[in-house]
Amino acid sequence: MKKLMLSFLAILSVSISSFAYVPTAENLKSREDFANDRFGIFLHWGIYSLFGQGEWYLNYGLNADEYSKAAKAFYPIDFNAEEWVKAIKDAGAKYICITSRHHDGFSMFDTAYSDYDIVDATPFKRDILKELAEECEKQGIALHFYYSHLDWTRDDYPQGRTGHDTGRDASKADWDSYYSFMNNQLTELLTNYGPIRAIWFDGWWDHDQDATPFNWHLPEQYELIHNLQPGCLVGNNHHQVPFEGEDIQIFERDLPGENHYGLSGQDISTLPLETCNTMNGMWGYKIKDQDYKDTPTLINQLVKTAGLGANLLLNIGPQPNGELPATALSRLKDMGEWLNVYGETIYGTQGSPFPAQTWGTSTRKGDRLFVHVLTPESNAIVLPDNVKISDAKEFVSGKKIKFTKAGDHIVLLPETIPEGIDYVIECKIVG
Ligand code: GLC
Repeated sequence: MKKLMLSFLAILSVSISSFAYVPTAENLKSREDFANDRFGIFLHWGIYSLFGQGEWYLNYGLNADEYSKAAKAFYPIDFNAEEWVKAIKDAGAKYICITSRHHDGFSMFDTAYSDYDIVDATPFKRDILKELAEECEKQGIALHFYYSHLDWTRDDYPQGRTGHDTGRDASKADWDSYYSFMNNQLTELLTNYGPIRAIWFDGWWDHDQDATPFNWHLPEQYELIHNLQPGCLVGNNHHQVPFEGEDIQIFERDLPGENHYGLSGQDISTLPLETCNTMNGMWGYKIKDQDYKDTPTLINQLVKTAGLGANLLLNIGPQPNGELPATALSRLKDMGEWLNVYGETIYGTQGSPFPAQTWGTSTRKGDRLFVHVLTPESNAIVLPDNVKISDAKEFVSGKKIKFTKAGDHIVLLPETIPEGIDYVIECKIVG
C-alpha cells in the first residue's frame, strides 16, 4: 500500500512539475528587468551570411553538404565583439539576442556535440558567442540566445514542412537522438557563457501542419533551462499564445494585437511582451536588401511598441566580414541620440492607458503620462476620455502646456508642435 502510495505521489509530482510552472524569484526579477528594457537588438549571423541571401538560403533547393562547404570560407576578419556591443549599447538598446544555431544547423559556438560549428569547421576558429558574452558582461548589457528547434541538416531531426531538398535522410529520423542533442547544446549554452537572460526558440511551426500533433517535449526542455539558470527567460516564436513554462510572449514583425504579416493576432498574455522586426526586410544579411527603414520609422515603431507595453527587438544581419552594415550602424547612432533625450519616456514605462490614436500613443510611469505625438493633425491633442490630468508640460523644455476640457475629453493645446519625429508632452495623471 505504502509503495503504491509512493508511486502515486511520484506520478503526481511529475505531472505537477510539467504542468504547473511556477517561476522562481530570479525568473520574476529577469522578467521585470526585461520588461523595463524596452529595446533590444537581434543579430542573425551564420555561414548563410556569406551567400548574402538571408538565413533561409539553404531551404531554397540547396544541398546541405554543398552548402556546408561555406564553413571553410567563413573568416569574418573584421569581427570585433567590443565594437558591436558598444554600437548597440550606444544605440540605447539594453540587450542583444544572437543566433546560436539557426535552421541551417550550423552552431556559432564551440559545441562538443557536433563538428559543424564555428570553432571546428571554420578557419576562423573563434567562439564568437564567448567573445560576445564576455563583452556583454563587461559593458553591462544582457545577452539572449536564439536557438532553432528545427534543423535542415541533421538526419535525426524528424522532418517538418520546410527544408525538404537539402538531402537529409528521412529514414534516419530519431527524435530521442535529436532531442538529447538539443538539450546538450542548451546545457552548453547555459553553462559556458555566463548569465544568459533568455533562450529564444524558433521553428516550432515546422510541425504545425502535422496530421497528429508533434510532441516537442517542451515542458522538460524548459525545465532544464530553468534548472540550469533560474533567471533565464524562455520565449518561443511559435506564433501561438504562450505555452506552459514560457516567460515572455513573442510577436514576429507585427505589434501585439496586429496582424499584417499573417503570423500574429494571437491573444495577448500577461507575460512580458516582445515584438521582433527587421531593420531592412530580411533577418540574415542580404546583399540585395538595402531597403532600410528610416530613423523616424524605427523610432515610431519603438514608441508604438512601448505604447503597447512591449519591447522592440530590432534585427540587424551582420556582414560576412564581421561588420555590422554601415546603414544599420547609422540607424543605431540615430536611435541612440533620440533615446539620450527621450529614454526616460521609454525605459521602465508601462503601456498606454488608452489605445493608439491617429496622432500617436502614450507611455506611463507612475502618475507620469508621456503623450507621444507622432503624427500631429492639429495643435489640439485630444486624449481619450478615460484620462484625467492635473498638469501638462513639454517633456524636453519643461514649458507648461495649456489644456482644456471638451465634454469628457482633455484637450492638450501646445502653442506649436515643432517639426520632429515625436513631440512628447508630459502630463500628471489624476485618479
Ligand atoms: C522566422 C524566420 C527565421 C527568423 C525568425 C526571426 O521564424 O523563419 O528565419 O529567424 O523569424 O523572428
